[in-house]
Amino acid sequence: MSGKPKEEDIPLDTTLRPRRLAEYLGQEKVKDNLKIAIAAAQGRGEPLDHILLYGPPGLGKTTLANIIAAEMRVSIRTTSGPAVERPGDIAAILTSLKDVDVLFIDEIHRLSRVVEEKLYPAMEDFVFDIILGKGPGARSMRLNLPRFTLIGATTRFAMLSPPLRDRFGAVYRLDFYDNEAIAAIIRRSARILGVEVAEGGVREIARRARGTPRVANRLLRRVRDYAQVMADGIITEAVALEALSRLEVDHLGLDELDHKVLQTIIQKFDGGPVGLDTIAASISEEADTIMDVYEPYLLQLGFLERTPRGRVATRHAYEHLGLPYEKEKPPQLGLFSP
Ligand SMILES: Nc1ncnc2c1ncn2[C@@H]1O[C@H](COP(=O)(O)OP(=O)(O)OP(=O)(O)O)[C@@H](O)[C@H]1O
Ligand SMILES: [Mg+2]
Repeated sequence: MSGKPKEEDIPLDTTLRPRRLAEYLGQEKVKDNLKIAIAAAQGRGEPLDHILLYGPPGLGKTTLANIIAAEMRVSIRTTSGPAVERPGDIAAILTSLKDVDVLFIDEIHRLSRVVEEKLYPAMEDFVFDIILGKGPGARSMRLNLPRFTLIGATTRFAMLSPPLRDRFGAVYRLDFYDNEAIAAIIRRSARILGVEVAEGGVREIARRARGTPRVANRLLRRVRDYAQVMADGIITEAVALEALSRLEVDHLGLDELDHKVLQTIIQKFDGGPVGLDTIAASISEEADTIMDVYEPYLLQLGFLERTPRGRVATRHAYEHLGLPYEKEKPPQLGLFSP
């Protein structure tokens, strides 16, 4: 039940994906800033500044990139870090853009070094340098590119090289959605899917959605199926509770892997601190997956803390798992001694 996309999400993601800023619910601060930037750029007839969107999976980065292009009334060209392997690939993409277009690079932290370096002059001066020939006879030629806006998306801000980061005029961090925004997203999705949901049903789904629109939509679909087969199609609070209790998520939306992470830290490593790689190895999961997909929500809930020496499980995590918390704070030596 993580925010990571699954095969089954794809058709639903597409039908439920908001197309305009007004349909994009929540993230008010980001939207306010974007509205001003878009109006200003349109007023000047210029492209928007390059934009970096970052945050955990399923929070709406791809959606927002498409909305920005729609609001600017320009075309969007989409690619991803691992897909652009050679400088020639990025050259082909950049030269095919039209004036003021948006280029969206998903997973931008996975761009290769050589491609990244080609992007610097493109972002700064809308030029692309190509080297013709080899050895002493090699010449360099400078191509002029159309003015464009680069929108980069990443789940890993820290993995972006500083020179690339610095070339974005605006950096927007998407946060987990609050309950109210998730509830609004569930109501909107239910309307589009043509399913009736009572307020109690909305609330129960929202509580387990991990502040993540993709998860909210996925849960809604599961509950809808249940309501259709087992009830008369209406998602009442009771129907939602019954359907959700059959999924392997607890009342906070934590699934088996979240539980494993917390249990490992608490039971095998005495609550931590313990390094991420050690946790990953003991539950046979990739460290990157834990860090990108699971950890952000556990941090948000205050179940985990990141310390310089590793991850620590907090009292809340113990309580949630029903385990006794016996850790004493170390005595603050000397603080109050005479
Ligand atoms: N603000 C929003 N309002 C309504 N629905 C949203 C919003 N943000 C996202 N969604 C829904 O959640 C789905 C997932 O969003 P999206 O694909 O944009 O996430 P993402 O951040 O790009 O994820 P990933 O990191 O996996 O690429 C969308 O298809 C859309 O249906
Ligand atoms: Mg995406």
